Amino acid sequence: MCGIVGYVGRRPCRDILFDGLRKLEYRGYDSAGISVVQDGRFSLLHSVGNLDNLEGILDQIENGGTTGIAHTRWATHGRPSSENAHPHTDCSGRFAIVLNGIVENYVPLRAELQAEGHEFTSQTDAEVVAHLIERAYQGSLHEAVVEAYRQMEGHFTYCVIAVDEPDVIVGIRKETPLVVGLGDGENYLASAIPAFLSQTRSVIFPEDAEVVVITSEGAELFDLDGLPVRRDTQTVDWDDEAAEKAGYETFMLKEIHEQPTSLAETLAGRIAHDGSVVLEDLGLTPELIREIEQVVIVACGTSYHAGLLGKYALERWARLPVEVEVASEFRYREPVIGDDCLCIAISQSGETADTLAAMRLARQAGAGVLAVTNIVGSQATREADGVLFTRAGLEIGVAATKTFLTQELAMLLLALYLAEARGHLSPTEVRAFTDQLRTIPGLLRDYLEAGAAATVNEVASVYAPSRFFLCLGRNLGLPVALEGALKLKEISYIPTDAYAAGEMKHGPIALLEEGSPVLVVATDSFIYDKLMSNVQEVKARGARVIAVASQGNKGIEEIADDVLYVPKVHEMLSPLLSVVPLQLFAYYVAKNRGEKVDQPRNLAKTVTVE
Ligand code: G6P
Repeated sequence: MCGIVGYVGRRPCRDILFDGLRKLEYRGYDSAGISVVQDGRFSLLHSVGNLDNLEGILDQIENGGTTGIAHTRWATHGRPSSENAHPHTDCSGRFAIVLNGIVENYVPLRAELQAEGHEFTSQTDAEVVAHLIERAYQGSLHEAVVEAYRQMEGHFTYCVIAVDEPDVIVGIRKETPLVVGLGDGENYLASAIPAFLSQTRSVIFPEDAEVVVITSEGAELFDLDGLPVRRDTQTVDWDDEAAEKAGYETFMLKEIHEQPTSLAETLAGRIAHDGSVVLEDLGLTPELIREIEQVVIVACGTSYHAGLLGKYALERWARLPVEVEVASEFRYREPVIGDDCLCIAISQSGETADTLAAMRLARQAGAGVLAVTNIVGSQATREADGVLFTRAGLEIGVAATKTFLTQELAMLLLALYLAEARGHLSPTEVRAFTDQLRTIPGLLRDYLEAGAAATVNEVASVYAPSRFFLCLGRNLGLPVALEGALKLKEISYIPTDAYAAGEMKHGPIALLEEGSPVLVVATDSFIYDKLMSNVQEVKARGARVIAVASQGNKGIEEIADDVLYVPKVHEMLSPLLSVVPLQLFAYYVAKNRGEKVDQPRNLAKTVTVE
């Protein structure tokens, strides 16, 4: 989730580029850099930390050059450091590149380039692009960019400048954003419109695999064979704030729609060609994996629900006994664990005080500690023996959405990895699951693009005046129900209970009266029939049932009052889809009640106090 901006025109561009970066700060930052072509060479600056640090040293380069690129980084590969900050240059210092996304095959590419004598100065996947361009360049930056693109796998956008072609920037995208801003005698390339919105409102949106060549005179687009491509110029009428939200009314809605991309990032490079799961930095040798006798998962809030889902996967696939506990309780227990225990701490921020304390307690008891987190360099990563990054990108909405989905996916990957390493799933069985996992980002994208938000809004608007909700689920549907209930509580402030559907008759059923709304996670599973008996029980008490069900299940329409369909997938993967209508449902209930969803009352995004 890095931010890119490039400028070519007639004005000195150092400060223009920096202003562009400021507007992209909402995309996350842990380091930044800027490169301007000046007097036949690059003036290049890198800094670690927020943009104030870059601003502090900005006058180290003259504000003279009129072509340049800049980048604000949100680390996914390689720690935040000056050498890992973009722009990256090649060995000859003639090309500078900025990249957003992940080059999945960077390891073999890097090895190949090193064998040919290329010297690398960073640990990033991005640096391979500079060297690929150097190798391919034969007098046309445009052609070198295409040649590099053909060799790269993954999803990314990159922009390149060259000292030998000082009035040109070339960019290309694959499944990550790139937008052209058309000015008067000057033009921009950026990962998002806010970067240049104060300068121009005329934009072109290139598609994947279209090469964009900008000069001060204009922008040209080509396909990979060099044939010109025509794309209409559009005018955006967004204000600054709307632009940061990419046109969505809130960050939460934007982040819900970013989930397909976030899931693709979580998966990137983690499924090998043979279908096995590749997880680096886990800090677990094959011997250690075989010695694990017990798993304890500690987390808070939404992350706790991801932990519950992880339990089902670890038990079913890896046959490990798993306990999941909220960190604030675990830290004051006297847990019976030892060095055969693996403690998994799930925390999107990596800074939650209770989770950190629980990790420390587990470690004192001799357990190995693995952190599952979204933030590179966070405290959890410093205290854990191993780390599994979720790569959701920066989440701004206080109610977690895309971080939850990526935590869940990370836990599924981990469970498959441990299952194979411990001999409980065969490579063929693992492959069957990873093949399906690969399809999830696309299925979710199709679901959202087919208008899921509007469909859910229609139902949610009917129930928005409710005074109470009950959410029910069984097996993997239970953590989904719990998470759906938490979203409703967090942003709509409506009292909501979530329960194991089979347990409902032991208490919550007493709450039901004529018309009480009950949300049921009823996607296809081995326990579907049992769940339906529970649904009959609530119907018999006059409840109105809103069911989340698998596409194709027509029978449920006879029982439920409203059905929110999601694509049908294997039941172990279904929570990756079934939670999304519940996020949207909570969102639209809150919106229909006029609540401010991005900053719910009394809540903080990161809780660093006990
Ligand atoms: C806060 C946030 C929740 C989050 C919880 C745990 O309560 O509002 O959205 O789930 O903290 O945060 P963590 O960063 O540890 O996942």
